[in-house]
Amino acid sequence: MQCSHNLENHFGDDASLDEADVLSIKEYLVKNSSDNSSKEASFKILNSMDGNDTIAITKTPYWKERHKDIEVGIFKRKSIGNISNCKACHVNFEQGLLNDKDIKIPKR
Ligand code: HEC
Repeated sequence: MQCSHNLENHFGDDASLDEADVLSIKEYLVKNSSDNSSKEASFKILNSMDGNDTIAITKTPYWKERHKDIEVGIFKRKSIGNISNCKACHVNFEQGLLNDKDIKIPKR
């Protein structure tokens, strides 16, 4: 996948960084990418790609399939805001835990 450094326009936000931070983040992302991960969800996401080269996880067939039963209105709840706020529902997301028992959809 092509990697661009066009961080002045990162999904509409200016996310410019200095070179050292860019390198450090790039190293982290490559090391932890689904191509290099042994996590079950990573295999499933990669297997669902089928020629789809999107860079947004929420546009992958696997992500869409797993979240299709969640009503759009739920993602708009105040404590969630939008579909990219993974850790609003996946409470141990930052520890890499995506198990069902680690999912709690906020009530408001
Ligand atoms: C509104 C709450 C909510 C948000 C926000 C959300 N998810 Fe989920 N996610 C769920 C629920 C509920 C499931 C379980 C669906 C099922 O089991 O049918 C799930 C399932 C998953 C799974 C499958 C886990 C497995 O082991 O089968 C992955 C991977 C995942 N989510 C990643 C993400 C990522 C990445 C984001 C952010 C881009 C995200 N989710 C945002 C609620 C959410």
